[in-house]
Amino acid sequence: MRETATALSELRSATRALHEQLEASLPVADANAGREEFLHYLQDMWGWLSGFEAQLWQAEWPSGMNAAARDGKLAWIETDLRAAGMAGAALASLPQAGYRPALDTPAARFGVAYVIEGAQLGGRVLGRTLAPALGDWTPRWLQGYGEEQARYWQAFIRCAESALVTQEARREAAAAAAQAFSSLAAWFAQRQRMRAGNEVRRVPDAA
Ligand code: HEM
Repeated sequence: MRETATALSELRSATRALHEQLEASLPVADANAGREEFLHYLQDMWGWLSGFEAQLWQAEWPSGMNAAARDGKLAWIETDLRAAGMAGAALASLPQAGYRPALDTPAARFGVAYVIEGAQLGGRVLGRTLAPALGDWTPRWLQGYGEEQARYWQAFIRCAESALVTQEARREAAAAAAQAFSSLAAWFAQRQRMRAGNEVRRVPDAA
């Protein structure tokens, strides 16, 4: 018999606090965030996702997920960084987190996908905060799936609920999602420390 907890509720309760911490610590989520914070956010997302996007989406997925269409967020970010003036060589040398989550079971894949697909949900909120700083630029990353956003999210939930029918699978997915969130948070923090260090080195000696 199917147990009552849903996959989505397990994913949410495993990651809710991590999402809150992430939002509270990210400069781009600040009410006064501007273009610079947004470009740092994009660079860091790229550096984290670059380690596994292709492996994640090119693995086995139910057809309802439309995995091939989800496998392109690095390209969205690259479009935005180029539009902001970053040239090929600078793009090629962006720091990479080297995160390689285990992706060998459907449960692990759904857990990691939850984090990436969920990240699209905050795009509109972020777009509104950043609108004054971005002027008439509508970044590809913030457009996400556009009008199709709700359809993609619903399809993800439907497929996750059909695939994660045992408590064990749901726990595995929730643990994978929490691990992905934690690794992203650690990476953002590392990059912020590096930038702060660079700032300090650039400030001329006041003595
Ligand atoms: C940059 C600032 C961010 C803001 C302002 C933000 C905001 C939001 C908001 C408003 C929602 C709820 C959307 C809805 O219910 O329609 C949401 C959901 C979500 N966000 Fe974020 N978010 C941010 C960053 C991120 C990042 C970096 C990740 C992970 C890579 C992430 C992962 C998620 C997930 C997984 C959900 C789905 C929660 C659920 O409904 O189960 N978010 N976010």
